[in-house]
Amino acid sequence: MRHLLSPLDLSVDELARLLDLARDISKDPSKYGHVCDGKKIATLFYEPSTRTRLSFEAAMINLGGQVLGFSEASSSSASKGESVADTIRVISCYADICAMRHPKEGAPMVASEYSHIPIINAGDGGHQHPTQTLTDLMTIRELRGSLDNFTIGLCGDLKFGRTVHSLISSLVRYKNVKFVLISPKELRIPDYIRDDVLKANNCDFVEVENLEQAMPELDILYMTRVQRERFFSEDEYLRMKDFYILDEDKMALGKPDMYVLHPLPRVNEISVDVDNDDRAAYFKQVQFGVYVRMALILTLLGLDTVVNPSLAHV
Ligand code: CP
Repeated sequence: MRHLLSPLDLSVDELARLLDLARDISKDPSKYGHVCDGKKIATLFYEPSTRTRLSFEAAMINLGGQVLGFSEASSSSASKGESVADTIRVISCYADICAMRHPKEGAPMVASEYSHIPIINAGDGGHQHPTQTLTDLMTIRELRGSLDNFTIGLCGDLKFGRTVHSLISSLVRYKNVKFVLISPKELRIPDYIRDDVLKANNCDFVEVENLEQAMPELDILYMTRVQRERFFSEDEYLRMKDFYILDEDKMALGKPDMYVLHPLPRVNEISVDVDNDDRAAYFKQVQFGVYVRMALILTLLGLDTVVNPSLAHV
């Protein structure tokens, strides 16, 4: 039984297979419409979500399966004090696979230790968000044709941004990826990512504060929201929240073939004017998120080659 707790739980080869499967699904999702007949996914969301929860649910429904779960801890027995360990023992009796989002870092890992079904980390505190990373990798690969040889700027809340931590951890495995880390000093990347991931893999990276100066060299700009829910002080959040606002003037500084990604939700960090720019890829990214989660469900359930056996690489 496999779980997905960190983006590194899939090898580079397994990831390539999964992205190939997601691409095959994207060409004709209806081919996969009955592969999960009779299967159920449990979506256990102890924190708010729109995209991740609903895209997992859409993914399972698209595959012919069904969905159960909760969208807030207050409507579950967590509100009565039930532990994650007990909850997952129970859910294992009801579902075939489970996607869990939790405010505590490591909660999905705890669940995996007590589970009889595959657990997918759908975001744990400020730690990791591996399925957003699968979405981001598919988006980059579909738009650029490759996950090698490009410069990515990651901008905004790099301290608490779990999507950024997961994406960096995954991209260091590809060739010639340069990282431009754009943040105010208060929201710089955590030491464990700088030292244990970027430096440990001899990556080319710089930490800067100015978005305008960074723009001309970027092939991908990955914008992030300053997350109110992760701040201890409201004053500090208010001081930081509009530090970066990507608008048409800043877009004019970027390459004609640069793409803008954002895990969403956005607040003010991308002006709505940018939505009409052909380089704005964040809504395409949302669509890729459904295909890649369909591919992940099939992979973790061992059903990934049922429709297209040629996707079983040697
Ligand atoms: N990108 C993402 O995780 O969005 P949600 O919080 O809406 O799931």
